[in-house]
Amino acid sequence: MTVARTRYAGPVTEARIHPHALVAQGFATDEALAAVLDRYPVELFDINLYDYDAAGQVSLRTGVRGRLGGAELLAAIQQGRLWVNLREVETGWPELWAAAMAEFDGVQSRYPGLRAVRHAGQLILSSPKARVPYHFDAAGVVLFHLRGRKRVFVYPGDETHLAEIDMEQVVARQTTEELPYDLAFEVDAQVMDLKPGEALIWPLYAPHRVENLDAFCVSLSVEFQTWPSRFRNGALFTNAVLRGAGGRPRFTDRMSTPELAARWAASLALKRAGVMRSRIAGLPRDFEPDAAAADGARDLVA
Ligand SMILES: [Fe+2]
Repeated sequence: MTVARTRYAGPVTEARIHPHALVAQGFATDEALAAVLDRYPVELFDINLYDYDAAGQVSLRTGVRGRLGGAELLAAIQQGRLWVNLREVETGWPELWAAAMAEFDGVQSRYPGLRAVRHAGQLILSSPKARVPYHFDAAGVVLFHLRGRKRVFVYPGDETHLAEIDMEQVVARQTTEELPYDLAFEVDAQVMDLKPGEALIWPLYAPHRVENLDAFCVSLSVEFQTWPSRFRNGALFTNAVLRGAGGRPRFTDRMSTPELAARWAASLALKRAGVMRSRIAGLPRDFEPDAAAADGARDLVA
């Protein structure tokens, strides 16, 4: 009997590893990666560099794609401290996406009641020392690991580790997805080491962070929505608007399904009306990849 580690976890009650065959299909070789970096649409690149202090608090720098060719950009990632996301794999690399969807269906079939209604993929190429800070995704995730070794820490998504007011801020795009983090959370983490050929799934909304284990890493992150997660995200958005207007909305896990559905419907109207403007669209960019520079990043001069 598993203790529920996360509010509205969905059918996935804990982090668990499943096998996948994407590596065997040749998607993670240097040649394949250099070629995809060469042709990937520039507007679908996110390039980040994270710095941590001794208390585990993070600061983020954001880079631009720059002019490096695919092989050079790959070298900069392999030698530096970069975290590169290629968004919308469904459009940017359709062959990988088709293979990943077949694998996704295999994982989903292990969880009765889990029915994804929308998927989106990002291919993550990250440096040997890269880490991703504590955050949550307002979606389900299956992380298909393709190269290197990484350690994923998954935490309970309860009010202590993931306050609902912080979830509202993320869902309403008032902040990037980093959450308040405390070193005391570590005793509560489920720690999973990933090898190529392994896919990790965790409970919907569970906060997590990632450390690469001294190896260049490639993973395909497939985010998905279910009808319950859509309702929940919509309710969180509506609650963010209500709270911004001075209201004090109740916790969404005390709401019935019809009440969540009504708040989801309200969120669609609020989004159409443009009530909450995104505050994260205009992040400044301050470096570009460079294999010869420290951390693989050369400062952009203003
Ligand atoms: Fe994540």
